[in-house]
Amino acid sequence: MSVPAMSTTVGSFHLSRSHGTPSRSFPRVRMAVRSGAVSVAPILTNLQKDCATSLPVLSHVADAMAADMRAGLAADGGSNLKMILSYVDSLPSGNEKGLFYALDLGGTNFRVLRVQLGGKEERVIATEFEQVSISQELMFGTSEQLFDFIASGLAKFAQKEGGKFHLPSGRMREIGFTFSFPVKQLSIDSGMLIKWTKGFAVSGTAGKDVVACLNEAMERLGLEMRVSALVNDTVGTLAGARYWDDDVMVAVILGTGTNACYVERNDAIPKQTGHASASGRTIVNTEWGAFSNGLPLTVYDREMDAASINPGEQIFEKTISGMYLGEIVRRVLLKMTEEGDLFGKSVPVKLSNPFILRTPDLCAMQQDSSADLQTVGSILYSVVGLESNFSARRIVVDVCDTIVKRGGRLAGAGIVGILQKMEEDSRGLIFGKRTVVAMDGGLYENYPQYRRYLQDAVTELLGTEISKNVVIEHSKDGSGIGAALLAASNSKYEHEF
Ligand code: BGC
Repeated sequence: MSVPAMSTTVGSFHLSRSHGTPSRSFPRVRMAVRSGAVSVAPILTNLQKDCATSLPVLSHVADAMAADMRAGLAADGGSNLKMILSYVDSLPSGNEKGLFYALDLGGTNFRVLRVQLGGKEERVIATEFEQVSISQELMFGTSEQLFDFIASGLAKFAQKEGGKFHLPSGRMREIGFTFSFPVKQLSIDSGMLIKWTKGFAVSGTAGKDVVACLNEAMERLGLEMRVSALVNDTVGTLAGARYWDDDVMVAVILGTGTNACYVERNDAIPKQTGHASASGRTIVNTEWGAFSNGLPLTVYDREMDAASINPGEQIFEKTISGMYLGEIVRRVLLKMTEEGDLFGKSVPVKLSNPFILRTPDLCAMQQDSSADLQTVGSILYSVVGLESNFSARRIVVDVCDTIVKRGGRLAGAGIVGILQKMEEDSRGLIFGKRTVVAMDGGLYENYPQYRRYLQDAVTELLGTEISKNVVIEHSKDGSGIGAALLAASNSKYEHEF
């Protein structure tokens, strides 16, 4: 597995830390010498028991997801799932033409993209993008600082436009803005931030229209561009995937955070008043990260949640997404080191550092096929300061596998819950034919074991026959193009083509 340049940002999921063999110059700062060490076997056994995702547990999660979706569609605040109406009621047709921009803020990176669309014949003529990382200072700064940063990145990128990209004279550049946090959508091009997730704690944005925040920042810079669609990343992914494949009905993100959206019938949305779409359908953003019903949780999950900046919130996200899997494993290893005799007599200082062990580290350890688990040993040493023998390394791999298996299987159960709900409302819509779930996010993309566990759960729950028709397809970076396509279909020049 290739291991590119180091990235220390908490929460993003890239395979991105290089691990050398243990260096003798490593500072051997240690604390808390234990007495009376015991075997760690019971800690592992209890963990496996508490994280077990038997078929009845998975079925319960799928059923509860479907029930929570219904309750969230019935009334605002009806369940943990917000079931946000996206105001996207027509999906890309292929006829979209012209130059559009997309702006994507969703995790530790922010991305700008432009695409020249050529209609049914030429489809995507050209794309270009740039990506910038969002620093911790910005994640904990003020709303103005964040939006000024975004607007200036956009301005620099727009200045480099040329070549195959062409804007007819007299037109303003239009943007599809992918904003991947829970937003109470007010129209296709406006929406109020409900709360930050994924470790963001920017002050002054919650309760405000994020498009207005961006417009103000663009005005401060004298940048004349117009947001014509505000979309969640799941919605962008669904639109991007549907452009190529009419069978796409659901989109899921499994990356730093997690979420899912799907195509819903208007008559199945009791809380929808006033906005009736011509197509009779609307994309609903579930915000499933907030789901919590019947999840197999452990003491480590509860402690991590209590220490988080949003205790009691985003419990599904904290159990299955890339930002948290490494941290759960770190907490288990800390307990094993404090109470057991696995890693010698003292607890390394580094191991007490929250979020120091990242999900890409777990992934790299799980890919280690060497006889002595050498990669596991060097990651334990370089990242959390643990010296390990072979049996300790094997236990660590088991811990990673337990947490990753639970995450992947629960994600699979969530997907089945959505499909089940859609099928119950319209028999034959989902299970009688090919149905595609478009999937994006680094966790799904880069973690083979996670992907396998997710697929296993879907197959176990649906049975082999039905699950053959349910295709989970990786739609890489589809949300950028999807947002640009939605900007095109909501363009103020739409009728001028
Ligand atoms: C956000 C969602 C987003 C998901 C994936 C969650 O934390 O609440 O809006 O879609 O992360 O990026």
